[in-house]
Amino acid sequence: SKKWVLMATAQTPTNIAVIKYWGKRDETLILPVNDSISVTLDPSHLCTTTTVAVSPGFEQDRMWLNGKEISLSGGRFQSCLREIRSRACDVEDKEKGIKIEKKDWEKLHVHIASYNNFPTAAGLASSAAGFACLVFSLAKLMNLKENPSQLSAIARQGSGSACRSLFGGFVKWIMGKDENGSDSLAVQLVEEEHWNELVIIIAVVSARQKETSSTSGMRESVETSLLLQHRAKEIVPKRIVKMEEAIKNRDFSSFAQLTCADSNQFHAVCLDTSPPIFYMNDTSHRIISYVEKWNRSEGSPQVAYTFDAGPNAVLIARDRQVAAQLLRRLLFFFPPNSDTDLNSYVLGDKSILHD
Ligand code: PMV
Repeated sequence: SKKWVLMATAQTPTNIAVIKYWGKRDETLILPVNDSISVTLDPSHLCTTTTVAVSPGFEQDRMWLNGKEISLSGGRFQSCLREIRSRACDVEDKEKGIKIEKKDWEKLHVHIASYNNFPTAAGLASSAAGFACLVFSLAKLMNLKENPSQLSAIARQGSGSACRSLFGGFVKWIMGKDENGSDSLAVQLVEEEHWNELVIIIAVVSARQKETSSTSGMRESVETSLLLQHRAKEIVPKRIVKMEEAIKNRDFSSFAQLTCADSNQFHAVCLDTSPPIFYMNDTSHRIISYVEKWNRSEGSPQVAYTFDAGPNAVLIARDRQVAAQLLRRLLFFFPPNSDTDLNSYVLGDKSILHD
């Protein structure tokens, strides 16, 4: 009968890199030029929820993002779907009397419904959570036996940074050596609860979509920036070692110093690209100056900043007290609806303001 439908749902938060991925050595397989390290956000903010369904009544693979149908014809979607289908296993639901054999998956079509719990237009990384969630929910539906690291190597082919969202806490994406990408995958560095004191606040500086996509930006940097070559070979490998140490020891001074330096170097690589790429704006620069001054006046870092391919600031406070102070100061110095509008959209737990 064509009547039955089988479904699976998953929820995946986005992640923020503290040692950045910037540059591919293989564009199709999405293999990076250096390792990267990120922190996965709490699922209550910036996460994607995806439900996937299979039915003999479905005539083609289809996907809806926030209720609007989108095309699945892109190479990245196709890579993920192909990789997952090839690993699908037998599925049996005795209650519903459904039995799908391994070989059936090649002929069956899926419907995918995905929702972001944050404004997609806010210019916040959504592809990381999106592809991680797509891969994870399909793997659940098709009963894959692969572990999260192996699944991360599939999510990587959707969007590089997505591979790091398969785990919570601090995560490393190992660049790998293989030409086929089998060893370019994510591993969890420490368990989720390891560094609970940290509070992450995202200051939305501009809700505009970025002008240069990460894909074309990376391509231009790889082709023209000598600083990128130097960074990938000489700088990042050392920083990765130090960052892993800092995370293991919950050494906030070292963590903040490395995070800020790496964000600044990533944006320096963008400036070193021809033509140069500007992701940060004046408000981003003012936030950096402000945090730098604050940290210096305290004698040791209280807040770390990092910026991705856009002007929005990701601020990591050493604890809740600092986070409350930070939130108050941000709203004071960058009041909503002024010319340096923070868009009145400061994510994070506002209850800390009242501590
Ligand atoms: O995975 P992509 O193509 O969205 O690239 C992400 C690039 C950065 O966010 C700037 C850095 C990173 O490591 O996430």
